[in-house]
Amino acid sequence: MDRTAQRAPRPAGRTVVYDPSRTAPGTAPPLHVRAAAVLEAGWTGSSTVPSRSLYPHQWSWDSAFIAIGLRHVAPLRAQTELDTLLAAQWADGRIPHIVFNPSVPLDAYFPSPDFWRSSTAGRAAGAPRTVQTSGIVQPPVHALAAWLVHLADPDLSRAHGFLTRMYPRLAAWHRYLLHRRDLGGGGLVSVVHPWEQGMDNSPCWDRPLSRVTPAPARSFRRADLDHGSPEGRPTDLDYGRYVRLASDYRDRGYADGAGEFAVEDPAFNALLIASEYALARIAHELGAASTARQARAERLTAALVERLWEPAAGMFLCRDVRAGELIPERGVSGLIPLLLPTLPRDLAATLVRTMCGPHFGLGGTTRLVPSYDLLGEAFDPHRYWRGPAWINTNWLLEGGLRLHGERGRADALRKGILHTADASGFAEYVDPYTAQACGATGFGWTAALTLDLLHDRPAGGGNGVTAIKGEDRG
Ligand code: SER
Repeated sequence: MDRTAQRAPRPAGRTVVYDPSRTAPGTAPPLHVRAAAVLEAGWTGSSTVPSRSLYPHQWSWDSAFIAIGLRHVAPLRAQTELDTLLAAQWADGRIPHIVFNPSVPLDAYFPSPDFWRSSTAGRAAGAPRTVQTSGIVQPPVHALAAWLVHLADPDLSRAHGFLTRMYPRLAAWHRYLLHRRDLGGGGLVSVVHPWEQGMDNSPCWDRPLSRVTPAPARSFRRADLDHGSPEGRPTDLDYGRYVRLASDYRDRGYADGAGEFAVEDPAFNALLIASEYALARIAHELGAASTARQARAERLTAALVERLWEPAAGMFLCRDVRAGELIPERGVSGLIPLLLPTLPRDLAATLVRTMCGPHFGLGGTTRLVPSYDLLGEAFDPHRYWRGPAWINTNWLLEGGLRLHGERGRADALRKGILHTADASGFAEYVDPYTAQACGATGFGWTAALTLDLLHDRPAGGGNGVTAIKGEDRG
């Protein structure tokens, strides 16, 4: 039996409880009811779309964040969300960044399954035969999400063997990243496409992308501009390069190692480390050895500091592996390692100062942390990851602030996130100065992480991220 309906907050079961078109002005239901209704509207029966219009399939890191919110209102469905994603895992361990819904028309999203050709081009890498996926990955938030879904209702999780099912798959996923993607040889994972890191058009990628010859504009047709304003999306030149990198990777049979683009990113690696801590907690819960995982997470944190910390910037930077140098751009990605429990104290304090200083403005010129340096030449308050503030990165930073004892700042950020989610109609991203909604509204992870922040705080405070902090040893 789905025990969803027995849990508080109650209003979001499997029935739509809020229809904005039928609600008189000034009588909107509470925020958690509206957030749950967004997730309900995006549910396909086995997973949740980030947005019906712009992103009509299942996205990997979106699903992880969505499960983190969904667990509060429909814990069984949160399990299913991750089950569906992991059912599309490749035999080499990679979790694809998109799992395609076969009932969505091919022209609804680009690049579509006929571009990725996973079941043929990905055969050697072990792509599944029965489901079509992309061939690249996204940030590894999944073990963290699985652990949080378990914590929401441990009895239900145990009754369904949820972690027993998840654990080997998540372990294989981390193995893939650590063994096949250490392209720089320093222990960290490289992304081979900007879509993998998730912040598609961050100015951090401009330099490594400039070496990539764009695919001819007439060789593909973007579908995103049918739904999103061109001013808020990546440019055609960006897309030409995205297409070239993805088709070259496909034409190499999705084999790792030879591509033109290889970047070690602080957020991607920090999320892997957070998930490695979560995997240690999962192993401990299952009675398996967890010490090695905990130790690996600590070693990876040390590698992150050694390879990506830039004292002069007061934050982490991306490393261009092909050029062998740090990329001199301040993206929000370089603040995300604040969520790591064993980050040295002085570095955590420096990250907080940077976040609240002129480059990101938190608590001064901005209420939410922008995706890119407010003072950077490439800053654009409306264009996707070149300046707007996003809820997932702010949720991660809220947890990081709390983890490192910055309760006042965390409370203010939490308030800012909830206010913004509410006032923007759960926008995909917002202008960091005015909070004007950009991109899609009714966006999946915005609603899900709103739910997470609204839910009762765990002992000692903190959103889900802080649940990785623990000393369990196996
Ligand atoms: N974020 C990309 C898009 O905009 C793909 O992952 O379609």
